[in-house]
Formats: sequence, C-alpha cells, structure tokens
Amino acid sequence: MSSRRIRVGIIGAGGIANYHAKCYMQVPYVELVAVADVVEEKAQKFAKAWGIPEENVFTNHKDMLDSVELDAVSVCTPHAFHASISIDCLKAGVHVLVEKPMATSGDEAYEMWKTSLETKKILMVAFQTRYDPELRAAREIVQSGALGKIYYGETTCYGGRRRGIPGESFTRKDTARGGVLLDLGCYSIDNAMFILGHPRPVSVSAITASAIGTQEEAVVKGGWIWNPRAFEVEDFVAAFIRFENGLVLVLKDSWAMHANTLGTTFFLGTKGGLKLWPLEVYRDEWGYMVDIKLHELPKVNSFLRKIEEFSRAVRDGLPSPIDPREIVIEQYIIDAIYESAKKHKEVEVKLPQDLLQK
Ligand SMILES: NC(=O)c1ccc[n+]([C@@H]2O[C@H](COP(=O)([O-])OP(=O)(O)OC[C@H]3O[C@@H](n4cnc5c(N)ncnc54)[C@H](O)[C@@H]3O)[C@@H](O)[C@H]2O)c1
Repeated sequence: MSSRRIRVGIIGAGGIANYHAKCYMQVPYVELVAVADVVEEKAQKFAKAWGIPEENVFTNHKDMLDSVELDAVSVCTPHAFHASISIDCLKAGVHVLVEKPMATSGDEAYEMWKTSLETKKILMVAFQTRYDPELRAAREIVQSGALGKIYYGETTCYGGRRRGIPGESFTRKDTARGGVLLDLGCYSIDNAMFILGHPRPVSVSAITASAIGTQEEAVVKGGWIWNPRAFEVEDFVAAFIRFENGLVLVLKDSWAMHANTLGTTFFLGTKGGLKLWPLEVYRDEWGYMVDIKLHELPKVNSFLRKIEEFSRAVRDGLPSPIDPREIVIEQYIIDAIYESAKKHKEVEVKLPQDLLQK
C-alpha cells in the first residue's frame, strides 16, 4: 500500500458525476481536481459544488488532459462518447473509470480494451453491481458447484420498469445510440455473466421494440417524465442467448410496458437453483425440497466500493478491479441482440480471436 495521493478529473458533469464526486470525497487519498463538460454552466456548477478550482474547469476533455496533471478520470458522459473519450484519456497516460455501458458497440469496446493494454493504464467499467453482496454470494454458490451444471437462466433489471424512461441523453440516437438494452441490459448481461463465470456466447435470437416511448399519452401520473418527441431508441428487449457449454440465458428488460413485472433473475442447475433479490437457493435435502435463505449478508455501499476499488488500483498500480475484456465480450452480445432483432432471425455472436485468449 502506498501513501501517495491521487489526482482525479471528471468528464461529463451530469447526474451520475455527482455520485462519483460524493464517493471520491470519501476516499482519503483522492483529490478531485478538474472537471470538463461541453456545457460550461454545468462544469462551473459542478466545480463549485465539489471545490474544484476555477482554473481547472473545461468545456473540452482534451484541454483538461493538456492542462492538468491527472492520475485518473471518471468518464460520465452519455454512452455515445464513452469510447472516444476513454481512448483519449488512456493515450494521455490517465487511468479510466468509464460509466456503463462500456461503449455502444463491440468494436468500440474492443478498441478501448486494446488501448488500455497498449498504454498499460487501468480501464474499469463502472458496474457497481459487481460489489452487490447478493450477486457475489450467488456467484460463490454457483461457482462452488453446489447447484450442479447450470443449464438455464433468466436475467432482468428490476423485473422491468412499467414506466421508467430516463432523460433525453438516454433516448436520443446521437447521444445514446440505443435504449434500454444499452442502459439496463448491460447490467442484466454482466450480472449473469459474473455469476456464471463468463461462459463463451455463441448465438442470439432477440426482439427489441419501441412500443411506448413515442406515445405522448403514455406519460402518465406515477411514472417517470420523459420527452416522447425525443424518443428514438428501444424501450423493450428480450433475447435468447446460447453459450458454448449448452447453457441458455434469457434476457428481458423494459423501460416501459403494460405489465407489472417481467419476472426475476434466476438460474437452474442439475443439483439446485437460485433466484436473486432476495437471494434464495432451492435444493433437495434429506429427501425433501428445501428453500434456503441467507442470513445477514454484509451491508455494502456498492457505488462507494466501486470508487474505492478503482482508486486503490490507481494508487497501488494494480490491474483493473473488473477485467475490461469480460465487458468487451458482453458488448458483442449486445451487438448480436441488435442485429438479430433487426434481421428477425438467430445470429452468431462474432468475437475477435484475441479476445478469447486469456
Ligand atoms: N452506474 C450507475 O448507476 C449509473 C447511473 C446513471 C447513469 N449512468 C451512466 O452515466 C452516463 C451519464 O448519465 P447521466 O445520467 O449522468 O447523464 P446526464 O445527461 O445527466 O449527464 C451527462 C453529462 O455529460 C455532458 N456531456 C455530453 N457530452 C460530453 C462530452 N463530449 N464531453 C464532456 N461532457 C459531455 C452533458 O452536458 C451532461 O452534463 C450514462 O452513460 C449512464 O448510462 C450510470
């Protein structure tokens, strides 16, 4: 452990950037020293809120990289800019924590990963879910072999949202590229892949729909408020994903639907099964079917833990706490889901060869 302090900058000073700042403030050896946002007032407001000196406020991340000595950045822009900005930062010799989704395509994510290898800089995708105690317990249980061979699973974020379409930067093609699949589906895929130990995906059959987001009358009381005139992406996705080991994973996510749930996240194995949130394990014991609940999982602020792990890796010269290679593979699954939905047929998950070699 080193006693070194680290200097961090934020790129994109919107909603989530404030959570990053709040958490960095709780890491004693981190100094939040600079901010860049294309909207100057947002950058100024953010700097004022978090004590960043006025001379370190920028409207272009490249100016920030040229002017301020930084160890690391958080990239908190809309999805469409994650790849190019992260690559600029890595090439400038700065470690990167990039918000989810890692990128908007497999090829973008692949280039980010390659750049992190070439520059020997940390590239971490900001999946705080990796520190969720239930998810970690589920992974431990599955990886212990106690459930036998897992042959089927379903994965979803919150069982789908009935009316939870986010703001314009998520619904416009120029800033988001895609909708609920990139926003929430990336979690659903990563949660499942983490639990399952990252099996190799082979093919996908999927549907995406833009069913509700453009309807003015669907902005109803009790739901989130969004702009139907700026809705250019999908609000529903379902996919049937096949893996090399025979396993099938069904993904279902929605930002809006006329139903109250899409179900739960669960996995079926030959010797047992489990479901998440709350975590329950199903097995046969003593000649009976038993349901097992875990007592007293640790209480963890997963978002803070994510920032702490990234900061520690930067300070101590450790590898990325979340291997970006895993997430690149997941981005190619997302590509295949969009391709299958467009072509109305099953498609192969195309992965570059060197991505498969550990
Ligand atoms: N990990 C989480 O829990 C979590 C939660 C919410 C959002 N996110 C992710 O964080 C990202 C941002 O989401 P948000 O809700 O903060 O969005 P937001 O629209 O509130 O903020 C984005 C900010 O980036 C700025 N920006 C746009 N282009 C830029 C550029 N090229 N350079 C610098 N700044 C630029 C915008 O002006 C805006 O201030 C999204 O990719 C989203 O998926 C993650």
